Amino acid sequence: MKILDIYNVLDFEPIKAKGSYIWDKNGNKYLDFYGGHAVISIGHSHPVWVEKLIQQINTLPFYSNAVVKQIEQDYAQKLGDVSGYESYEFFACNSGAEAIENALKLASFNTGKSKVLAFNNAFHGRTSGAVAVSGYKQNISEFNNNHNVVFADINDTETTVEIIQKDDLAAVIIEGIQGVGGIIVPDDDFFKAISTACKTTETPLILDEVQSGFGRTGNFFAHQQSGIIPDIICMAKGMGNGFPVGGIIVSPDIKYKKGQLGSTFGGNHMAMAAGLAVLEVMQRDNLINNVKEIGNHLIKKLKKLPKIKEVRGRGLMIAIEFEADNISELRNNLLFVQRLITGHAGTNTIRLLPPLNITKTEADVAYAAIYNAINSVMI
Ligand SMILES: Cc1ncc(COP(=O)(O)O)c(C=O)c1O
Repeated sequence: MKILDIYNVLDFEPIKAKGSYIWDKNGNKYLDFYGGHAVISIGHSHPVWVEKLIQQINTLPFYSNAVVKQIEQDYAQKLGDVSGYESYEFFACNSGAEAIENALKLASFNTGKSKVLAFNNAFHGRTSGAVAVSGYKQNISEFNNNHNVVFADINDTETTVEIIQKDDLAAVIIEGIQGVGGIIVPDDDFFKAISTACKTTETPLILDEVQSGFGRTGNFFAHQQSGIIPDIICMAKGMGNGFPVGGIIVSPDIKYKKGQLGSTFGGNHMAMAAGLAVLEVMQRDNLINNVKEIGNHLIKKLKKLPKIKEVRGRGLMIAIEFEADNISELRNNLLFVQRLITGHAGTNTIRLLPPLNITKTEADVAYAAIYNAINSVMI
């Protein structure tokens, strides 16, 4: 049997990883400034993460939600402490899209409405509801095409508030910082205006922190920068450092009934062990401070690069948009010559999403690699 040929795959096979580095089968070493789409938060094969997973697999790797799971309760407690959302409740699932689906469903159960306000250029995943609230039309099939969604532009406060004030929405959904869309940062005032309009109309505000959460931007969740308090927050990616896990946290104002949501694998023992390791290391090593410090340092340097249009982002969620329309040659040079792994957005932007515990030296090595690649292929 073959694998469904559905992804654009790089000609590159990693076989080993440790910390911020990856090795291919020929023994070449790469600095990983992408973390498999922002997934690697505390570094590849972090010893605390490895130890916790081994311990868990040797005791109880899995049981479903039909039983008491102390480890999930411990996880929720710790997540409340670290995120500052102690009074919220945690529902576990297995991926980002699933978190979005559950958030939208819960909001709709609460309001009894179906219409959702989402934002152009957003990416929330590929399942039916998630794809419907995304700004990408190419992966919407006819089957997924019947959702009731209206779109506005990020930072278009007037239109956005006008739509919310019509008071006919099941939810508003927005990314903390748009990731796949090219690291587009909503203004603090825009977030505040949405939050106020949602509170006035009792419209649930859903924050998609799947990519921008877990310390990535220098706050635990990106929206915390603007001081707003959403009703439901979606998470995944950095949450498990590579172990598949997702979840939502829900305000006490959101009502629910038993059976409205569910998942066979959600909150399983292995996922919660991985998640606990991430939170423990984040707290122990003060990774949010590291993100702020190294992120500021790196962004400042990147802004001096030649041939660039703009550097966007916060913390270690960074985009570099180039003057050229197509940077495929630059991306190849970065990977195969400089041995720096980066992501992309569109055809002229690279995305940097390194582990949260990178050092200043690693940031400088990445900067030098990008500088050298620009000088090799663009000048
Ligand atoms: C902001 C955001 N939301 C949701 C998702 C979907 O997550 P998953 O691929 O785990 O379903 C992604 C994935 O890139 C994302 O970036």
